[in-house]
Amino acid sequence: MEETLTITDNRTNRTYTIPFFKGCIRTADLRQIRKDAEDFGVMGYDPAFMNTASCQSSITYIDGDKGILRYRGYPIEELAESCNYLEVAHLLLRGELPDEQQLRSWTQEVMTHAFLHENVKKFMDGFHYDAHPMGILISTVAALSTFYPDARNIHDPEVRKMQMRRLLGKIPTLAAYAYRHHLGRPYVYPDPDLGFTENFLTMLWKQRGKECRIHPALSRALDVLFILHADHEQNCGTNAMRSVGSSHADPYVSTAAAAAALSGPLHGGANEEVLRMLDEIGSKANIPAYIEGTKSGQRRLMGFGHRVYKNYDPRARIIKKIAEDVFEVTGVNPKLEIALELERIALEDEYFVKRRLYPNVDFYSGIIYQAMGFSPEMFTVLFAIPRVAGWLAQWAEMLEDPEQKIARPRQIYTGEWLRHVEAAGREAGQART
Ligand code: ACO
Repeated sequence: MEETLTITDNRTNRTYTIPFFKGCIRTADLRQIRKDAEDFGVMGYDPAFMNTASCQSSITYIDGDKGILRYRGYPIEELAESCNYLEVAHLLLRGELPDEQQLRSWTQEVMTHAFLHENVKKFMDGFHYDAHPMGILISTVAALSTFYPDARNIHDPEVRKMQMRRLLGKIPTLAAYAYRHHLGRPYVYPDPDLGFTENFLTMLWKQRGKECRIHPALSRALDVLFILHADHEQNCGTNAMRSVGSSHADPYVSTAAAAAALSGPLHGGANEEVLRMLDEIGSKANIPAYIEGTKSGQRRLMGFGHRVYKNYDPRARIIKKIAEDVFEVTGVNPKLEIALELERIALEDEYFVKRRLYPNVDFYSGIIYQAMGFSPEMFTVLFAIPRVAGWLAQWAEMLEDPEQKIARPRQIYTGEWLRHVEAAGREAGQART
């Protein structure tokens, strides 16, 4: 029997039967509920999409109450344990983990796109010496659109695949150049023979005339962090990617929009803010006063809370383990002690318990990044690199979904109903100059 929902409109005493669709109702079905023939019909009002599914997706599954995260059905813990980032990018974009042969050719396909047009370098040179690397990254990704006008042909699946390989390959180079520009150091060309993550770290840290050996533990730690950040279903950045992409804008400008959304302190920018917060706290003795300040609404505890997770973020749990591997090589970041104590106190505090606020992915990642030698300005860039795989997978899924159209929400108009421009002091029929 078809599952349905019965709604009675008490304004008219009419009853409507609305079919369930995969446990939801289609809000368009509410439009039939009208007061009278003039009425537009009932809409859903849901600022910030608190309870609205904007798409069907087969990419990422999250159960926020149970703390579950899966990409294409695989638990994040297993992917982080046994795969490398490019395998996971393949999984997100092509639906399956690659076999050995497929991984070899996929890696080669992506890495051959690591090089940038020399004019991209010139473009980056135009940024001020202290430009934030995230601002450089966002702008330069958008600028790639002018280098690859073929990308506008988004309806051709082969063209789409080409832009995906390009973007995956070029993002680490753009990120590394943004970092080197920020420090005033010369850019280092990619070496496609190195792995994805090792190549990225080499582009960041290589000094002219000196050999650059990346410690395998650090390279692996960053690769796992890339896996953890690769996708997270319909978050703010992904929603921007789908929304901008739904107008059939090309993937470079759509990715720039997603990266811009990610840069905000309530989203991917939180990792940078966590470090600033730990600096501000300064010592364990100051934690109780700081927590009181968050409870009285003066500020938020950065790296805590999540729209979807009402349990420990499974990524934060894995990151805590990675921290141990990194600190074995780099020595312990003294901020870890403050972070651990902050977490302990917050998790016992009624304010946080009642609101189900737990550490999220950003709480510990910054501490690791800093121990690895990154400055806080770079943290969100490190988040954006792997998230490109997720954005592109979601973008392609959106384009192939016959139900998707240009994203265009409705509104409830609350302004003046109708006013007329005063004629006094104006020439009839003419605007003021
Ligand atoms: N510190 C203190 N109180 C908090 C925090 C926090 N970090 N997060 C939420 N709350 C409180 C709110 O004040 C609110 O309390 P109230 O019910 O008394 O008004 C309640 O918890 C619910 O918060 P909302 O803002 O309604 O939750 P929402 O789902 O809209 O926000 C968000 C989620 C933005 C992540 C929020 O928890 C936050 O600002 N966290 C800090 C920033 C952060 O770490 N962002 C990274 C998220 S992970 C990511 O994007 C990669």
